[in-house]
Amino acid sequence: MSANQTPPSATYESAFLKACRREPVPHTPVWFMRQAGRSLPEYRKVREGIPMLESCMRPELVTEITLQPVRRHNVDAAIYFSDIVVPLKAIGIDLDIRPGVGPVVEKPIRTRADLAQLRDLTPEDVSYVTEAIGLLTAELGSTPLIGFAGAPFTLASYLVEGGPSRTYENAKAMMYGDPELWADLLDRLADITAAFLKVQIEAGASAIQLFDSWAGALSPADYTNSVMPHSAKVFAAVAGYGVPRIHFGVGTGELLKLLGEAGADVVGVDWRVPLDEAARRVGPGKALQGNLDPTVLFAGTEAVEAKTREVLDTAANLEGHVFNLGHGVMPSTDPDALTRLVEYVHTQTAR
Ligand code: CP3
Repeated sequence: MSANQTPPSATYESAFLKACRREPVPHTPVWFMRQAGRSLPEYRKVREGIPMLESCMRPELVTEITLQPVRRHNVDAAIYFSDIVVPLKAIGIDLDIRPGVGPVVEKPIRTRADLAQLRDLTPEDVSYVTEAIGLLTAELGSTPLIGFAGAPFTLASYLVEGGPSRTYENAKAMMYGDPELWADLLDRLADITAAFLKVQIEAGASAIQLFDSWAGALSPADYTNSVMPHSAKVFAAVAGYGVPRIHFGVGTGELLKLLGEAGADVVGVDWRVPLDEAARRVGPGKALQGNLDPTVLFAGTEAVEAKTREVLDTAANLEGHVFNLGHGVMPSTDPDALTRLVEYVHTQTAR
């Protein structure tokens, strides 16, 4: 365990980590999924001419991009700048992130023979992550750093489809048609994901978020039988570190309880389910994260404040609340609207 996680450090006592642990907070902590990135002109400037995946492998650049939203918005946590496909690239999978498209995989995984593309991830494969997190924790002071990874299902969706998909027809065809191959694929992805999260925690990340962004495409039964055991393996692998584990997916209203049961301390909620209802679905013993609709930020300050007030009201009786958007910051968002939103949540919830 690194110094920044050892109680009672200033990081350990931060509002964000307290809310994750369901302890009393001085104000509701705020961070935004995709807070680093294209909404910021300073991001577009430093990224100019550098492909996305290459930028993830340069520790100084990762440090600068991760810090940009912390400096600008006064958010309560930083999220490590990377992408869910970085560990897959690191073990040699031929893939790229295409601007405006997302991850594209050269040779999709469709057969048992294709599994040979996957090998275990070692810390040496991602030494730039360890280096960047060392630089970051030195700069961040008491602000916690969130590490993250893609969950086995969401990673598999890209690997099997070969790129973004609306229907996940190839991934689901494998899940229903060759459950053994599917289970072996997700089990290997769970090991890779767990190894990648361990690298981040050992380097100094004080919380982790597992993004199962596209799990909302699954019924509760299919999630329970074909996906949850693999995500649970990831959470169990990092349980011993004692850092809060956040679990998030889009359109997961029917899965919220299961997302918690997979092993999360904090369940991320999108904007479709009010937080009080989400708390009923999740049950006791978990904090919640969310859930302002990211499109509200285009509606002007008055509307942002009214909709934020609604979120805070639905969160009034939660055991722990981390304010966030219901999904990532959209690239055309006015960054000043985000800065004002952080200030608004902080002043409205100051205790
Ligand atoms: O939140 C943060 O500030 C950290 C950065 C972050 C990125 N990707 C950087 C990125 C995080 C947390 C991710 C996770 C990620 N990547 C997810 C899960 C989160 C979610 O949104 O549900 C998913 C599904 C991906 C896959 C992916 N990578 C997509 C769908 C895209 C967008 C394609 C596009 O151009 O619209 C990417 C590329 C990507 N990842 C960008 C950034 C900043 C844009 C690339 C660029 O700036 O050139």
